[in-house]
Amino acid sequence: MCGIFAYLNFHVARERGYILEVLFGGLRRLEYRGYDSAGVSIDSSPGSWNGGATPPPLVFRQEGKIASLVKSVYEEAAASDLNLKESFSTHAGIAHTRWATHGVPSPRNSHPQASDSGNEFLVVHNGVITNYEVLKETLLRHGFKFESETDTEVIPKLAKFIFDKAYEEGDKNVTFSQVVLEVMRHLEGAYALIFKSRHYPNELVACKRGSPLLLGVKELEDEKSAAASFTELKPLTSNGHPKELFLSSDAGALVEHTKKVLVIEDGEVVHLKGGSASIFKFDRTACNSGGTLSRPASVERALSVLEMEVEQINKGKYEHYMQKEIHEQPESLTTTMRGRLLLGGTSKAKGVLLGGLKDHLKKIRRSRRIVFIGCGTSYNAALAARSLVEELSGIPVTMEIASDLVDRQGPIYREDTVVFVSQSGETADTLQALDYALENDALCVGITNTVGSAIARRTHCGVHINAGCEIGVASTKAYTSQIVVMVMLALAIGDDTISSKVRREAIIDGLFDLPSKAKEVLKLDQEMEDLAQLLIAEQSLLVFGRGYNYATALEGALKVKEVALMHSEGILAGEMKHGPLALVDETLPIVVIATRDTCFSKQQSVIQQLHARKGRLIVMCTEGDAESVCAGGSCRVIEVPQVEDCLQPVINVIPLQLLAYHLTVLRGYNVDQPRNLAKSVTTQ
Ligand code: F6R
Repeated sequence: MCGIFAYLNFHVARERGYILEVLFGGLRRLEYRGYDSAGVSIDSSPGSWNGGATPPPLVFRQEGKIASLVKSVYEEAAASDLNLKESFSTHAGIAHTRWATHGVPSPRNSHPQASDSGNEFLVVHNGVITNYEVLKETLLRHGFKFESETDTEVIPKLAKFIFDKAYEEGDKNVTFSQVVLEVMRHLEGAYALIFKSRHYPNELVACKRGSPLLLGVKELEDEKSAAASFTELKPLTSNGHPKELFLSSDAGALVEHTKKVLVIEDGEVVHLKGGSASIFKFDRTACNSGGTLSRPASVERALSVLEMEVEQINKGKYEHYMQKEIHEQPESLTTTMRGRLLLGGTSKAKGVLLGGLKDHLKKIRRSRRIVFIGCGTSYNAALAARSLVEELSGIPVTMEIASDLVDRQGPIYREDTVVFVSQSGETADTLQALDYALENDALCVGITNTVGSAIARRTHCGVHINAGCEIGVASTKAYTSQIVVMVMLALAIGDDTISSKVRREAIIDGLFDLPSKAKEVLKLDQEMEDLAQLLIAEQSLLVFGRGYNYATALEGALKVKEVALMHSEGILAGEMKHGPLALVDETLPIVVIATRDTCFSKQQSVIQQLHARKGRLIVMCTEGDAESVCAGGSCRVIEVPQVEDCLQPVINVIPLQLLAYHLTVLRGYNVDQPRNLAKSVTTQ
């Protein structure tokens, strides 16, 4: 949901072309967050304006993907006298890739947004400013002219207004961060912002509330001692060494440059100047005195080291990230379980160890209710685990789609354990539901794939799914890892119940085997491509599931609709006779999930009823069941290996992910960046 990136080289000569490439590279890594339009701002030649005064920064903005921006920048450079070889010892550049929320994709609505035609203040923004209309009215009254339909445009204009006012009132030493702190005082909503200004050449200021932002630091000389001192010196003071500083919406755009990062907290302002990074805490109650803007003391923060490798964020031998992530599932499932399954033995019991929960398990067991909250795929994952959590904990589990809970302000009690499931850990709807649950004093548990994400930080405790970086917009490996984490959660909660010991041990054995079963089911790749070929021109696909695999039906249908752009609906098979049966004829393809579990016989009768209506069936069944499930009519079969019933959704979803993937490729759509979508939905 928009990606922001910045690059500041300090005392290290970099050509303009190099600076642009770093900015474009950052944007390419962040493109999955939005790809409606993109933009960058860099400096023009010093002294090239008004007899030596600081010239206005250059701004390039283009509708469409990063590739269009890159093309247009180089075309413009070739057509003008913009010298790509010109070298800057210190230079601050900013960049943005947009997922449109306010205003259609167009250069005018792209970022950086500017304060005025002289680009005195420029801003890139990820998030939504909810009070922008009020701010806009005020700024219009003060003579500002607006060009775009964005909520963002008020921000650089507000910065200019504050800067000009401070100057008029005699505060000629107002710093860039003072201006930004004052801007923050007026903003409502969620944001991560990076500011560049003509008044503060070679400086950048960033701040955030709600949306994610990281600082990356790369020391270029005296690598060892400099890096050490940088981590220890607080605030991150300049030691005069040449260095490169980066700001980014996520770690994926930093890791190829540096692993030394700082996860910027909500309410923090980071001022990059003179090779140092000073961090200030925004305080709404701090007053300006005598017309002077407030200047809080800088706070101390230490850098941490990213546990991520560049290879993880490359496609490797695969054509698409989604394809890579589907095929990675045997490994991602292994990583999710690593160190968490206790094998048992002569003296030790078989069990699970979830370090992030161990101090909270007693409280969870005493809960009156467990509430699972998520959106999209994350919600489906929770749904897949729901009945096992109920079975092993004996606690009722309710399911909430985050936005719906917030819309109706549904009841959440202090005796509830509320589990927030989110791959990104930054989904705005889920975060809002989290705030609501915290207000209601519930115990909040986070299940995310992103260390340091807002959900990971704001919940009382939690479990990382450790599925590795997921870049394809359609979630695949995160889904299966989320289910596994929730299965382990159920095992941990039920760990003190003797009556379920045998069942729990069978599930733990099943978890051990799961990666190899995932590997086996991936062999259906070609079969799924053939099926996709058959379905290529269809308008619609229904998926019937029930029990553990109702979630699989919803998730399979979601994958097909979001990437293959084909209408698809996941339907609870028990509801078939209450409406959906009317759709059944010889033409509409229907997938029925009928693998072995307690719902198997009911699914067999669903198949019979569909046969009776001459339904066009594709049945997913357990290996060896092909003949029996299709008796009484014709159907195509997808045979999958059998695993423990509660783990079957992990296996069953994989052929459907493959089907969605191949359908998308065959239909000629963009696999990794489906139309109108973005990976992290940081707006409501
Ligand atoms: C679908 C998909 C979305 C996300 C949803 C929640 O493939 O990825 O439905 O699952 O936007 O995102 P997270 O899990 O990041 O909270």
